[in-house]
Amino acid sequence: MNKHTISFISILLLILLIGTLLASCGTSNTTPATSSGGSSAGQTLLQERCSVCHSTDRVTSAHKTAAEWTTTVERMVSNGAQLDSQEQQTLIDYLAANYK
Ligand code: HEC
Repeated sequence: MNKHTISFISILLLILLIGTLLASCGTSNTTPATSSGGSSAGQTLLQERCSVCHSTDRVTSAHKTAAEWTTTVERMVSNGAQLDSQEQQTLIDYLAANYK
């Protein structure tokens, strides 16, 4: 291989790499847009953040009022659940609506 072939190949690889990066950006950008509608966002949070230490059955078999869910979610956050305050509210709304 001469120098030209090598630089041609590295440019090709670079283009491929950028294409892959752009494609994966595209898919990760569409995910929040589709899951931003109320209950499905809450459901995603429940499945992703509340199944770390115990199964989600532990959550979905419970029946609580909005105030009780608020206390529970706050306690789980102090146990170590990873939720910012916005996500906590989304999840509490979801739980209070579906597991009362
Ligand atoms: C860092 C680990 C951890 C994470 C993450 C976690 N939990 Fe828990 N959860 C526990 C532990 C430990 C217990 C048992 C002791 C207790 O009740 O605090 C528990 C118990 C529970 C219970 C049964 C007790 C009750 O009050 O009814 C519910 C419901 C619950 N978790 C909901 C959730 C929800 C909702 C989430 C997501 C926000 C969550 N958990 C995330 C550790 C965790």
